[in-house]
Amino acid sequence: MSWKIQSMEDYAVAYQKSKKNPNDFWADIAKTFTWKREWDSVLSGSIENTDVKWFDGAELNITENCLDRHLKERGDKVALLFEANDPNEAARTYTYKELHETVCKTANMIKDLGIKKGDRVCLYMSMVPELLISVLACARIGAVHSVVFGGFSAEALAGRIEDCECKLLITNDAGFRGAKTIPLKNISDEALEKPGSKCIEKVLVHKRVGENVSMKEGRDIWWHDVYDAASSDCVAEVMQAEDPLFILYTSGSTGKPKGILHSTAGYMVWAAYTFANVFQVEENDTYWCTADIGWITGHTYITYGPLLNGATTTMFEGVPTYPDAGRFWEIVEKHSISHLYTAPTAIRALMAHGKEIVESKNLKSLKVLGSVGEPINEEAWNWYNEVVGKKNCPIVDSWWQTETGGILISPLAGITETKPCYATLPLPGVFPVLMDTEGNEVPFGKGEGNLCIKTPWPGMTRGIWGDMDRFKQTYFSAYPGYYFTGDGCKRDEDSFYRITGRVDDVLNVSGHRIGTAEVEDAIGQHRDVIEAAIVGFDHDIKGQGIYAYVITNRLGDESIKAEILAAVTKHIGAIAKPDKIQLVPGLPKTRSGKIMRRILRKIAAHEFSNFGDTSTLLDPSIVDKIKEGVL
Ligand code: WTA
Repeated sequence: MSWKIQSMEDYAVAYQKSKKNPNDFWADIAKTFTWKREWDSVLSGSIENTDVKWFDGAELNITENCLDRHLKERGDKVALLFEANDPNEAARTYTYKELHETVCKTANMIKDLGIKKGDRVCLYMSMVPELLISVLACARIGAVHSVVFGGFSAEALAGRIEDCECKLLITNDAGFRGAKTIPLKNISDEALEKPGSKCIEKVLVHKRVGENVSMKEGRDIWWHDVYDAASSDCVAEVMQAEDPLFILYTSGSTGKPKGILHSTAGYMVWAAYTFANVFQVEENDTYWCTADIGWITGHTYITYGPLLNGATTTMFEGVPTYPDAGRFWEIVEKHSISHLYTAPTAIRALMAHGKEIVESKNLKSLKVLGSVGEPINEEAWNWYNEVVGKKNCPIVDSWWQTETGGILISPLAGITETKPCYATLPLPGVFPVLMDTEGNEVPFGKGEGNLCIKTPWPGMTRGIWGDMDRFKQTYFSAYPGYYFTGDGCKRDEDSFYRITGRVDDVLNVSGHRIGTAEVEDAIGQHRDVIEAAIVGFDHDIKGQGIYAYVITNRLGDESIKAEILAAVTKHIGAIAKPDKIQLVPGLPKTRSGKIMRRILRKIAAHEFSNFGDTSTLLDPSIVDKIKEGVL
């Protein structure tokens, strides 16, 4: 590829060109893809007007770029490698030819269920090949996929189905996950009982576990009953560059989860460009990203990015610690994994089991180690580098978000110098700035501030589904004319960036984004709860843990804690369960009724001094009472 960066000189040239002449820069890259019609303009619209468009006027289908384009040269190359939850179950592979055929058949199967271009399809599945296949099948016929992580509850699923009015739900009978099975179909049935889910007309059920499930006449269809009859000939739908490709829900600092919308052409170019340059995967490599397709990392760096580049992508159904803490290393050895892309939380969890487990496996195939999802602490960075990478594999600490579509700041493997905890340098086309407390740009050079991006890049989100006002408010109002990330950041004397974490009320628990307001709402629904306040605290493995302060009319009754956990599991899912619940007689509120979270964060961190100005508190004595009961 003409645009593949191979040295720091290439990087500098590309970066400068992307700054001086972004239209030519991105047009040259875009030309290397398959289009049905070329664009009229490369970039149009602006951040100021929240009307950014890339490659407007162009027509394409992303799956032709992921699949058809490779058939001639790489038809027999493995596109997808599937490692099951049970290590004794044989791994499955799909060559590009086989994946193409399977996607086409699946696309026809979905079409036969009445799904047309523009319809929304919800995928609530475990990490089986059919999930990735369903994603691509939707894209093939122009349906908008909305994947919901299999750890969310029926209520959370229903809320997402209702918000974007999905017509079809694709699920599994159940999913294997470590020692557990997740009853996905039963949870789906519960979700579909809610009035808001009426928009669902059909449910397509893929059998994975062999669980006994009930099938509703006229609504539910087994995948295996209709798959064989579907034709393997599926002409790709013609999509406009800015047609929606997918919606993915993520948490913000307030309110319900937001349906982050990504459109077709810009996302495609960004996914392909960033995958190729950040990971530097070569033709015979086997790349493995351990994320779940329920999150953005699984969209861009398990599905679209690798396939757009004709790489072999690995999908793992299970968890790092099943059947034991050696599972990741066993998989690396078994499949000669060259690129491993995982989260700091997994690294820390495995680190706790000692290096002997890692050293007992042959990890010679490893070339590049990636990290994503949360700040990586120095200890974990060093362990990853020394124990896993034997100091031979560059550590690619990549920073990005659901909203950014793909990686924005990251070392390019083997090219950029690395530094523990630093995401290092922005990719070409990305112009980060740090904002000071007055809302001005911190002059270039060493500094610290809130991270914003100054100009549009192709992969940026185009909106929040059904709520453009909220979109403007959330990302473009704090610093008019800039995209505000919600992250704090430091820049060192080499202009390397270090992301320090969220500066808003979003927590990052084991790499999962959790909105404090959502958890507070869930707890508040318990009838004996008067009010709850959620803050994060440092957690050795999870990065951040969830600390809940709860006012209840059953103060002193410890049994309410289990009920609170159950409420969170019911309304959101087990991933949002608080690690600590403290029952309190009151919360530190200002006279105007605002909770002083700063004080609650300090107490949760066991810092009992320097609370700052507490003179505006309605009842300052409450602080001492909370301190006394700290967990
Ligand atoms: C955090 C995940 C530090 C950050 C791709 C961001 C990181 C949020 C890094 C987005 C990193 C992600 N270093 N922090 N390398 N990568 N984050 O939307 O706070 O699930 O805003 O996207 O994760 O989480 P999301």
